[in-house]
Amino acid sequence: MNNGTLMLAADALIRARAGRWLIHTTTSRYPAFVLDNPNLVTLLGHFVRPLSLLTVLAQVPPAHRAEVQQVLEHLQTIGVLVPADSPAAADPAIDWSAQRANVHLRHLARSVYDLGGDVACLATFAETELRERTGAGLERRLLAMIAAVDGLKSELAGLRDAFVGPQLAALGLHPHSRDLNLHLGAGPTRIDGFVNIDIQGAPLNLNLAWGLPFSDGSVQRIYVSHMLEHLFYPHDVGTFLREMRRVLAPGGRLRLAVPDIAACIEAYRTGDRRFFESRHETWDWWPKDLTPLESFLAYAGAGAEPGHLLESHKFGYDFETLAKALRAAGFDTVLESRFMQSEDPLLQVDSASAVASARHGEHYYALFVEAVRNP
Ligand SMILES: C[S@@+](CC[C@H](N)C(=O)[O-])C[C@H]1O[C@@H](n2cnc3c(N)ncnc32)[C@H](O)[C@@H]1O
Repeated sequence: MNNGTLMLAADALIRARAGRWLIHTTTSRYPAFVLDNPNLVTLLGHFVRPLSLLTVLAQVPPAHRAEVQQVLEHLQTIGVLVPADSPAAADPAIDWSAQRANVHLRHLARSVYDLGGDVACLATFAETELRERTGAGLERRLLAMIAAVDGLKSELAGLRDAFVGPQLAALGLHPHSRDLNLHLGAGPTRIDGFVNIDIQGAPLNLNLAWGLPFSDGSVQRIYVSHMLEHLFYPHDVGTFLREMRRVLAPGGRLRLAVPDIAACIEAYRTGDRRFFESRHETWDWWPKDLTPLESFLAYAGAGAEPGHLLESHKFGYDFETLAKALRAAGFDTVLESRFMQSEDPLLQVDSASAVASARHGEHYYALFVEAVRNP
């Protein structure tokens, strides 16, 4: 047992469930520790600040000391209580990163999915049983969860302007800027003369699901490479396409590159294993032990894990389907294009993206499509 100062690990969670408390961390491989004793939970709460164990134990009545000591030792074993000077104890407000938030969100997304199965099966039985046992049935529990998530979403929504405004100003942009060229979902790629936008790590960081902070008709060109397949089809894709059309000026052009699913189907049908294997030359992190079918379906958006969040593909396109989505969003002119063959010289930018440039022999993995906002 560590007799120095201890703290709750930065990712420690104490959750109430059915009158008991579950104590764990988001990253530990150990199952949650279950506590029934509210005094112990209160005592644990003191460890938000560094605390010496001997000091704590000295305050516990002698009759309970052994029990408390046992619990605290177990919580050290499972990583909930950690030495105050260890990295695991770092204050999340200081040592905070989007990656860490993603760990929580992955966990939450997976949990919500699993919950769906439990709720579908236990349904009315759970509503009655939980209400009798705890006073709060399934529906009240779910509404409380929805309220918690919606509450956080609306607080975050309230921060958007303060986050985006200074970035726009630093780039010399404002909501009424005109004649813009936008590069959306830019990732590590930068295109000169374009406003490079991504959810993180770009000159302009924003979630494209918020819409674009530009006025109607203020944009001449939009380039989007390998981002559309990360959105859910058709709803989120439709919203995004309509938003791009809104900001485009009459005659303005949208150029899209997406995984070419028709080419994948053809490679699969003809047993062209090299088509799938040579993808590793561009995407070296792509798992090497996938069968062509696994590789193809993941590329086309099938089998996405809820916890993969934005990263996984949600859908795949051939020209007909993408053209349909573009027309539904109000684009009249939709054309299939080829690598670096935009009709607008300023949109001949595919070579800037390693992903759009990826090819197998003479064939590009991407489907290139352009849509014009007609006057
Ligand atoms: C596969 S990468 C493509 C990067 C780049 N366009 C290229 O061709 O190399 C997809 C990019 O879309 C971005 N993205 C996905 N969803 C987004 C969203 N809702 N808002 C902003 N960016 C998003 C990701 O952060 C990521 O950088």
